[in-house]
Amino acid sequence: MSRIVYLNGAYLPEEQATISIFDRGFLFADGIYEVSAVINGMLVDVDAHMARLERSCAEIRLALPWSRAEIIGIHHELMKRNALTSGGIYLQVTRGAADRSFTFPGEAKPSLVMFTQARPMNREVARGYKLLSLPDLRWKRRDIKSVGLLAQVLAKQAAAEAGCDEALMIEDGVITEGGSSTAWIVKGKTLISRPLSNAVLAGITRKAMLTYLAESGFAFEERPFTLQEALEADEVIVTAATALIMPVTEIDGQAIGGGQPGPVARRLRDIYFDLAETGGALG
Ligand code: PDD
Repeated sequence: MSRIVYLNGAYLPEEQATISIFDRGFLFADGIYEVSAVINGMLVDVDAHMARLERSCAEIRLALPWSRAEIIGIHHELMKRNALTSGGIYLQVTRGAADRSFTFPGEAKPSLVMFTQARPMNREVARGYKLLSLPDLRWKRRDIKSVGLLAQVLAKQAAAEAGCDEALMIEDGVITEGGSSTAWIVKGKTLISRPLSNAVLAGITRKAMLTYLAESGFAFEERPFTLQEALEADEVIVTAATALIMPVTEIDGQAIGGGQPGPVARRLRDIYFDLAETGGALG
């Protein structure tokens, strides 16, 4: 059975869902995306993802013609039509199709594309991620979840070719984030991650984790950290709607914290899964 996707008001088999060659997402990467996790049949933290979508769209002056409730409704409909219980939902909104011209087209209507991706989302991790550090080659507004992802494509491809699961991006001597994830280090009972700014995406999984760190007995220190600090940390963790809370066991071929998934990452992943049963920490 073919996957059913959403395109501009219609639910279609994926092979029938086509979009104009003039779509500005295709021509200029003039669009925004979101990825929300589905765990054990539950859509996780969708409100927070929608809030970030609205903010990203406002930052690029793209007026969303759909309400938050409508878009959340499409998420649920796609889960139902595809019997999705584990994986994620990808959403992309672009400024629409118009003859090629850099400035905003007067007449174009935004395009909305959404599709499901089934993948296992298991509480237990068989092994941690291996990371490859690389220079961060991205633009200066990484707080906007833009579909312009060429720097991440190249970084994650280099990581894959080195036998790694994820890239670890570095700028001005400190780690910005993973190729498509937020980076953390653990020292004792303290989790460290850099402050939000235009230099990083405000991760929803990061935000969810912050809501339960203190009550789980952990402290949070918001500051940049170096690759050397990560290599010497007790644990390293990356978080994202696709990886959830993922222990890192190797960076650039060097074992982290003994080379096994650490207890802090495992504990936090457990809490994340417990909360996912009711739609996540943020709703
Ligand atoms: N990426 N930083 C970057 C650069 C990201 O692309 C992502 C997510 C994150 C984590 O954000 P969140 O916790 O909201 O997923 C941080 C998605 C999953 C992707 O591109 O597939």
